[in-house]
Amino acid sequence: MASQHLPTPAEIPFNTYTMKKPLVGTVVSTEIATAAHRAPGVETRHIVIKSPGLKYLSGQSIGVIPPGINPRNNRPNVLRLYSVASCGRGDDRRGDTVSVIVARHYWDNEETGEKQVPGVCSHYLCDAKVGDELQLTGPVGKRFLLPVDFAERDFVFLATGTGVAPFRGMLADLLESGYEKTVTLVLGVPYADSILYDAEFQALVAKHPNFKYVVAVSRGEDKNQYSDLFPTRGDKVYAHIAMWDQRDVIGPSLMKDNTAVYMCGLKGMEVGLHEVMNKMGQTYGNVEDLVAKLGDEGRLLEEVY
Ligand code: A2P
Repeated sequence: MASQHLPTPAEIPFNTYTMKKPLVGTVVSTEIATAAHRAPGVETRHIVIKSPGLKYLSGQSIGVIPPGINPRNNRPNVLRLYSVASCGRGDDRRGDTVSVIVARHYWDNEETGEKQVPGVCSHYLCDAKVGDELQLTGPVGKRFLLPVDFAERDFVFLATGTGVAPFRGMLADLLESGYEKTVTLVLGVPYADSILYDAEFQALVAKHPNFKYVVAVSRGEDKNQYSDLFPTRGDKVYAHIAMWDQRDVIGPSLMKDNTAVYMCGLKGMEVGLHEVMNKMGQTYGNVEDLVAKLGDEGRLLEEVY
């Protein structure tokens, strides 16, 4: 069974900072990453944090410890993990910052019946101001990383919403290294005017013909043209529908014998994407179960929640 050539464990930074010994980071910038109609209160933010000494890789996560006491057990709040949204050199490539993308989260408390309870850490981070100090831990994650032989492989990155975070860093790692194979990003978002990092990805498309960028807008005017093959609720255009629409570009890349597929985002996207991958396998490569083959060969990495 072939598997990806991941960095060796010694090359992967891991838990340099912990709950007991956190790193004190400082907010450098905080910007709304979605359009104006997702106003403060429901917005998604891109936050850059000064983090001197923190080494990390694209695809890893850092912990943030929100201050305060958890009322459910009267103990200090514990860390929450966020996927890093920068490459290991940070957004400014100077190597002393880390970026995260955070959507304000609300949840329904089934024990008390309370609805739309603000999530502690997402609100803490979204409310943080430039200059505020944050307690950081990590990095963690040894699996969802680029392989060391990335220069030899095509990649297909599949994301919904803030699940795009690890791919932003990985795209920088690939495209700033003279990478010559083909990398495709398929990104599913709700609204056309709130496509995360769209301007950055468009700029990469203009500069790198080997970067293919495919967006699925689920609540826009376009409807699923392939509902006979892949039905979706309300004929929404989900990531797998946009992927199938671009099958002549993505299919051949997917069929190469060392292409790696990474998926990050909502758990719900898994089923449709697997169906489309298998259909592509049958259409472009005479492979009955491409998902099983990719999994067996360590070429399908998923982080879904
Ligand atoms: P929708 O919410 O319109 O059903 P965000 O995290 O910003 O909400 O974006 C997540 C995106 O993933 C949305 O466009 C959402 O669509 C979409 N989505 C939700 N469920 C699925 C699913 N089962 N398969 C693929 N995409 C999905």
